[in-house]
Amino acid sequence: MTSPESITLRQPLDMHLHLRDGDMLRLVAPLSAASLAGAVIMPNLVPPLTSVEMLSAYRERILAAAGPYAADFQPLMTLFFQDYPESLLAAAKPHLFAIKLYPHGVTTNSESGIHSIDTAEPTLKRMEEMGIPLLVHGETTGFVLDREAEFLSIYERIATRFPKLRIVMEHITTAAAVQLLDRFENLHATVTAHHLVITLDDVAGGLLQPHLFCKPIAKRPEDRDALLAAALAAHPKLMLGSDSAPHPRHAKECCGCAAGVFTAPLLLPRMAELFEAHDALENLEAFTGGNAIRIHGLTPPDRSVTLIRAPWTVPDSYQDDSGLSVIPWEAGRTLPWQIAD
Ligand code: NCD
Ligand code: ZN
Repeated sequence: MTSPESITLRQPLDMHLHLRDGDMLRLVAPLSAASLAGAVIMPNLVPPLTSVEMLSAYRERILAAAGPYAADFQPLMTLFFQDYPESLLAAAKPHLFAIKLYPHGVTTNSESGIHSIDTAEPTLKRMEEMGIPLLVHGETTGFVLDREAEFLSIYERIATRFPKLRIVMEHITTAAAVQLLDRFENLHATVTAHHLVITLDDVAGGLLQPHLFCKPIAKRPEDRDALLAAALAAHPKLMLGSDSAPHPRHAKECCGCAAGVFTAPLLLPRMAELFEAHDALENLEAFTGGNAIRIHGLTPPDRSVTLIRAPWTVPDSYQDDSGLSVIPWEAGRTLPWQIAD
């Protein structure tokens, strides 16, 4: 393929995004809303989003924080999985994209997550009947490198027992998870930008890199390569979900570093760079939105986003007047692509 000077993506989406609340929300929401037609908003606030009222109020706060970009940015809201009665699900459905299931204690703000998949089944049945998708943080509490692999049998079990339930394996990090996609019609997956690029070596192979520390932890080169091959081929069941997870600088650069990589500011330029490097730009639009639109039948704002070939250096940090500071992935690195104004 020749080297284009610009790339236009129709309706780009981030299918897994943490926007937080308060000052952090105001700082980070515009960074995503500026260049996306929509995003799936994670519910792991403190306390987690568990009611229609919380969901609707949070959506309003997001749109307020998105400011001038709000008109063309669709927040796809999620509830935090609990044992929900049918009445609540029915009331929530018009306001809801999906429900996100966290096992207890596996990641940031997952203290109210489930203790056993058995107890989740009645609600999963209701979701299947009502056509509400299930998003899953698929990790056990086992040995850190094996947590996703150990969870795959639970995906198989849910996919088998609820064949009409649309299930998304969130932020997959292993070759085995990629393979599972082809075995169950109702299984889909998101993958982050950083898991297409880094391995555990980048996190902890040299000096410890707290800004690359996240859950699930980055894995082996062969895992990264399998994820990358699937993304570059625009595997029809795989969607970009950044899992951009901002934490204040002091919570990352400390003893007891919080998990999460803040990738929102460079998401699309970085993916353009990656796909171009592998001569796969023709598949970028499917990976960054097209697949998600088809899989979920979404109707985001009809917004096209253009990237231009012009060097752009990722800022060292994003900050506000209150002293809040967040460090983005690849801070200080110059990328060949940037979002056109
Ligand atoms: C996320 C966060 O900070 O909310 N952290 C992370 O490492 N990815 C939670 C999550 O998606 O696991
Ligand atoms: Zn996440």
